[in-house]
Amino acid sequence: MRMYLTMFTLSLAAAVAMYAADAKAGKAAYDTSCKSCHGPDGTPNPAVAKMMKVEMKDLKSSDVQSMSDADIATVITKGKGKMKAITAVKSADDVAAYVHSLKK
Ligand code: HEC
Repeated sequence: MRMYLTMFTLSLAAAVAMYAADAKAGKAAYDTSCKSCHGPDGTPNPAVAKMMKVEMKDLKSSDVQSMSDADIATVITKGKGKMKAITAVKSADDVAAYVHSLKK
């Protein structure tokens, strides 16, 4: 019994560490590939919105936060409206996890 408990605790710790690593890798990719348009914390860069003549949603807003990781990953890999696909991002899932961590 004790052994099972130890194993369970260990796998739980591994899962938590894995999740943290994802969002951390996602932050690095976000800072490189998204920050210039979406701001350091998800607040849209007004100059970009003006230049592209589009209303950009705050990534912290409930509209974006209610999107699933998969939906956000699709926006990154396929683009959406005036946003072109961001091909430099290796793991869109990591970035999606990071976007969800921006929640207020
Ligand atoms: C060149 C500027 C630019 C870059 C770089 C960029 N975006 Fe965008 N993004 C936009 C614009 C503009 C829109 C709004 C598109 C529209 O509504 O036509 C948008 C929309 C979005 C949306 C959808 C919000 C909605 O309106 O439903 C998400 C999510 C998003 N971006 C995430 C990201 C992530 C994550 C990255 C980095 C991997 C990124 N974007 C990189 C300009 C950019």
